[in-house]
Amino acid sequence: MTVVVTGATGGIGSAMVRRFADRGDDVVAVARPTEALDALCADVPSAVPAPLDLERPGGLPAALCDLREVEVLVHAAGIADVASVTDTPHDLWQRTMAINVTGPAELTRALLPALRAARGRVVFINAVAGLHGVARWSAYAASKAALTELADSLRLEEAAHGVRVTSVYPGGIATELLRTVRGAFGRPYDPAALVSPESLAETVCAIVDAPLDIDVTDISVQPPPR
Ligand SMILES: NC(=O)c1ccc[n+]([C@@H]2O[C@H](COP(=O)([O-])OP(=O)(O)OC[C@H]3O[C@@H](n4cnc5c(N)ncnc54)[C@H](OP(=O)(O)O)[C@@H]3O)[C@@H](O)[C@H]2O)c1
Repeated sequence: MTVVVTGATGGIGSAMVRRFADRGDDVVAVARPTEALDALCADVPSAVPAPLDLERPGGLPAALCDLREVEVLVHAAGIADVASVTDTPHDLWQRTMAINVTGPAELTRALLPALRAARGRVVFINAVAGLHGVARWSAYAASKAALTELADSLRLEEAAHGVRVTSVYPGGIATELLRTVRGAFGRPYDPAALVSPESLAETVCAIVDAPLDIDVTDISVQPPPR
């Protein structure tokens, strides 16, 4: 299968890249052009780098333009600045909506012909925080709520083309993003009490492999109660 993963250099995205590559899939790893992206693709031979800034997604790299069939597109890029409305300047709103919503929409649009050709699946890594308002996390929560509606609309639009759409709502995945967020909220960060990115990647693979007579539309993923 050909699998495109955004946020490939991040905690969740890099686990996705490694998990799909381990299965023998061809993986296109999307992130901004950095040494981290090059290092990941050097370490995972079946992963091809596709440098792309989702804030300005015009002009896709060849690694994406040349794809004729895409079985899976996982959107795992995102930013999650902790700030209330009163502390969120316009440019942070724009950046948050661009990276978390409009960039993913534009990349999906560009890859739809290849997704339709493969009757593929789009997976949006949303967030529990997108299901309700969160004080001091306004732009992030708003962007994730918008991502839900994007996914739900896309599912309806693409059903006739055989493209499936899944929203995954994680909470508490052990990554640097969560460490920063917990720090900003003054909450402890203990990776041992969280879901590992590898477990989330395994769960997404299970969704991708689900029998065709099941449509997994939404799934919530968090650490078990202790
Ligand atoms: N960790 C959690 O507990 C948790 C819970 C719920 C939802 N999520 C969601 O899961 C997703 C991944 O989170 P994570 O914890 O893996 O975060 P992370 O480790 O900070 O990774 C974020 C990724 O987003 C990419 N990114 C940021 N700005 C970008 C831009 N302008 N263009 C392209 N890529 C960009 C980063 O790549 P570069 O900076 O290298 O470009 C990086 O690969 C996010 O959408 C987050 O909201 C996470």
